[in-house]
Amino acid sequence: IAVDVFDMVVFGATGDLAARKLMPALYRRDLAGQIPPEARIVAVSRRREATRVYVDTVARWLAEFVPETEREDACVERFLARFEHVTLDATGDEGWADLAEVLGRFPERVRAFYLAVGPDLFGAICERIGRHGLVTPQARVVVEKPVGKSGESARVVNDAVGKVFDESQIFRIDHYLGKETVQNLMALRFANALFEPIWNAAHIDHVQITVAETLGVAGRAGYYDTSGALRDMVQNHILQLLCLVAMEPPVSLSADAVRDEKLKVLRSLKPIEAAGVDHLTVRGQYRAGASAGGAVPGYLDELGRADSTTETFVAIKAEVQNWRWAGVPFYLRTGKRLASRVSEIVVSFRPVPHFIFEPSAGPVANNRLVIRLQPDEGVKLWLMIKDPGPGGMRLQHVPLDMSFADAFSDRAPDAYERLLMDVVRGTQTLFMRRDEVDAAWAWVDPILAAWKASSTPPRPYTAGTWGPSAAVALIERDGRTWQDDGY
Ligand code: BG6
Repeated sequence: IAVDVFDMVVFGATGDLAARKLMPALYRRDLAGQIPPEARIVAVSRRREATRVYVDTVARWLAEFVPETEREDACVERFLARFEHVTLDATGDEGWADLAEVLGRFPERVRAFYLAVGPDLFGAICERIGRHGLVTPQARVVVEKPVGKSGESARVVNDAVGKVFDESQIFRIDHYLGKETVQNLMALRFANALFEPIWNAAHIDHVQITVAETLGVAGRAGYYDTSGALRDMVQNHILQLLCLVAMEPPVSLSADAVRDEKLKVLRSLKPIEAAGVDHLTVRGQYRAGASAGGAVPGYLDELGRADSTTETFVAIKAEVQNWRWAGVPFYLRTGKRLASRVSEIVVSFRPVPHFIFEPSAGPVANNRLVIRLQPDEGVKLWLMIKDPGPGGMRLQHVPLDMSFADAFSDRAPDAYERLLMDVVRGTQTLFMRRDEVDAAWAWVDPILAAWKASSTPPRPYTAGTWGPSAAVALIERDGRTWQDDGY
């Protein structure tokens, strides 16, 4: 279904995000027929270049980042004709009148300002958007993570944006929420009667959330070193996943109904104080090793500095202190240069209350629901069944297996495709509200402070492994194990 006619104004239009994600996503929506013929993309950058030169760059990005099967000449041409490039100084005065003129041609349209720039520029840009009278009733602003580096700096950023835009106009992106499989968490939980009665501490032993990457930080070491895994992945993506697993059923899918429930989860997270930080968290930093069959350098080599204590891996034992989840640990972990690229949520159920089989029937494993977010998207429900054959009662752990690739022939859209169209539609359900961001920082800040005060540096781990051995100990001392290949 086509969306309303819009002008999408992209700040940072020559950057990496525009190249890899935004332009390919907009192109694909155009190919899908969702973008009205009159819609425009206004590319804003400091570069002094004509629109036709900028458009050549976009054409190159499409050739690089959109698979050939999805590149249709007629659509590429139509898409490129939507562009207008404006040279503009985000922190100065130059170019703003030009932008006002371009947008002023269609004052009634939905107008989305996408700030694909660092958060230090959000305030300056919004202030100028306001000062130049560009905020119409149909205007909205999209900000990328990271929103700040701490609760305090997030407040500064949010205040600056909030001076110009109303909360209902602010779209804070967490691209994980746009992933098909992440949205499927809501379908799985709330469109099936099966899970809800057992979705609680009485039946669930623990939950694991893993977002493992094989990539290092090459190319973005400068940014990454000021961030680290806790800020880069946990404060946003992983806590959002935790919220979707742990939240109460919202009364509807309206933005506030969903976000109210997520907020309650964030506020129920048990604080990790300095005294508990060594027990409940593990941070690591990769050393040289092997990944995808080749030798790879260590983090410090990539960074070109020997004294960084930035973590590239983190594992945390978290708890949600409420009636539903009391006493159920949520083990979270994420890292760069791990053994494989896999994001998954494992919900591990409690053991059967009484074992009626002979010990020779074999060990009984707990039921597990594994939601694979990427790659090989799908859901597996691990059950115990009888091993077929005449050898008596032998039990085996076997999955009921639903692979998205097998079940659906359509290509799953990229997260940005969904999110960009939601911005145009004005639907905020999959975007973070300000109080959610604040609550997430309120939980993360004390961990960062405790790490900073600690004299122990991050634990080294070899690239291509599952992280420091302390992360294994974190879960194994509770008598549980990471499901590294549990899928
Ligand atoms: C980004 C982080 O938000 O998410 C990156 O800044 C990370 O460090 C990326 O690599 C992971 O996203 P995806 O979609 O590849 O899982």
